[in-house]
Amino acid sequence: MKEIERFYVTFSMKLKRTPGVILAILLAGSITQNTSSQEPSVIPVPASIHEVSPGTCLITSSSTILCDTEVERSALYLAGYCQNFYNLDLKMIANMNSGKDPGLIRMVSDPEMDPGHYTLQVSADGIVIRGSGEGIFYGVQSLIQMMPVPPIHHDSGIRIAYVYLEDGPRFGYRGMLLDVSRHFFSIDFLKRYVDFAAWHKLNYLHLHLTDDQGWRIESRKYPLLNEIGSWREGTMKGIWPGTGNDSIRHGGYYTREQLSDLITYAQDRYVTVVPEIEMPGHALAALASYSWLGCTGGPYRVKETWGAGQDVFCAGKESTYEFLEEVLDEVMEIFPSEYIHIGGDECPKERWENCAACQERIKAEGLNGEDELQSYLIERIEQFIRSMGRTLIGWDEILEGGITQETVVMSWRGDGEQGCLEAVRTGHRVILSPSYGFYLDYPQTSREDSLAADWGGVTSLSKTYHYEPVNDKLKPGEAGYILGGQANVWTEYINNEAKAEYMTFPRLSAVSEVLWSPSGARNWEHFKERLELQYDRYSLWGIRFNPAHPDWE
Ligand code: ACM
Ligand code: ZN
Repeated sequence: MKEIERFYVTFSMKLKRTPGVILAILLAGSITQNTSSQEPSVIPVPASIHEVSPGTCLITSSSTILCDTEVERSALYLAGYCQNFYNLDLKMIANMNSGKDPGLIRMVSDPEMDPGHYTLQVSADGIVIRGSGEGIFYGVQSLIQMMPVPPIHHDSGIRIAYVYLEDGPRFGYRGMLLDVSRHFFSIDFLKRYVDFAAWHKLNYLHLHLTDDQGWRIESRKYPLLNEIGSWREGTMKGIWPGTGNDSIRHGGYYTREQLSDLITYAQDRYVTVVPEIEMPGHALAALASYSWLGCTGGPYRVKETWGAGQDVFCAGKESTYEFLEEVLDEVMEIFPSEYIHIGGDECPKERWENCAACQERIKAEGLNGEDELQSYLIERIEQFIRSMGRTLIGWDEILEGGITQETVVMSWRGDGEQGCLEAVRTGHRVILSPSYGFYLDYPQTSREDSLAADWGGVTSLSKTYHYEPVNDKLKPGEAGYILGGQANVWTEYINNEAKAEYMTFPRLSAVSEVLWSPSGARNWEHFKERLELQYDRYSLWGIRFNPAHPDWE
């Protein structure tokens, strides 16, 4: 079916349950086949853009937004955006049936549409966004990408070209990780990352809150995690250890109030904040705070070099399990996210081999060595998290000893394919977060002049853009286990906000297209054309990005 025909069919189906019949007829009149208009330049590219007759719709300070109460969040967001970037004060009416004012922009919630899906109609009759709750929000995101950049600061308002979009996400999990342990970033900066996610139709922000180099979340039960574990006395200088230490005290942590504020900010943008508490490895900041958490009893120091430490949580002592559950309890009090990430990657086993308590646990539980001891710990934690009504996510190492099916695997090693296949074939859902292509701390070009992670090679914009989460070794039906994907910004070599943004952009725009757009709609040449305007948007949004030529390797 031609797109224009499909439009009429979809639209006439909607007519049956919409009071705006007259509006729809008027609107259909403005749609003709074979008339060309400038195609909007939207990232991630929408599933379908239909041809409509040329023309523009004008948003001015006297324009109103009409919305259902369920989608007020999106209306508030749009009004805030127009105020911030275009100096326009739109009026909001939170009642579709208020009668008098037809509203220039109408947001119609349609719970029957698939999650995240929306239609956006700009015509002589105004702007209509229809969708489920978050779908309307994504319609707003597409609409703001149709606004002129740089903004025109005068009373004539914002002109939007006529268009009709039908769009929806390819994957339900579209994430981005920020490592706030290796370097600490302010809550205001985390809100900026939520904005980056929202502007790219991403819906998860994963915070890597604990590691060897710092503990970043308030604990009331274990205050030394903050007094001691949140601070390190210095940081190694070069790319590899042995090149000196800057001896500058670095650290900080987020209070419960700050995190709750961040979570609300994110909810208003349909972004879920997923907390990660690393275990059993990457645990030195916790051990430095409470030395009884380790096998040897210490003393321990918050780590000042990069790379995973040998000292990990003792998996033998019962007190370790009490600690982990009580900490997770506090975490779940703060974070409403269904998903709770517990790390699980890169855990050296030497300490366990030489620890009487760990060896005793192995014997008592009938385990076959240290690998199974790791699975025992992960399984106990999984049961605890499940008993609280949440779902555990772990890096793909958690597959090594066998884990319960409810667990979600985040596959990071290599191109993610092996972890993905193992996860799917043991009945687990999986999120692709491969170091190949989706690690945004790796340099973007070989001409990089800044200190960047030197352990994964160049991750060019093109490499990121061409990453395909559904690998061709999957059998029919197995792709359904893939929840989506995630880009990671690890911060060993990112010690300030400007650099974090520089490493994130423009690659995050490529990630968004991989995770949102239908695979058939992805087109590298077309993306590069749209990127030119995206760069202007970055400037409007104040994003500091890497201006490297998109084709540089
Ligand atoms: C990881 O990069 N170790 C998840
Ligand atoms: Zn031990």
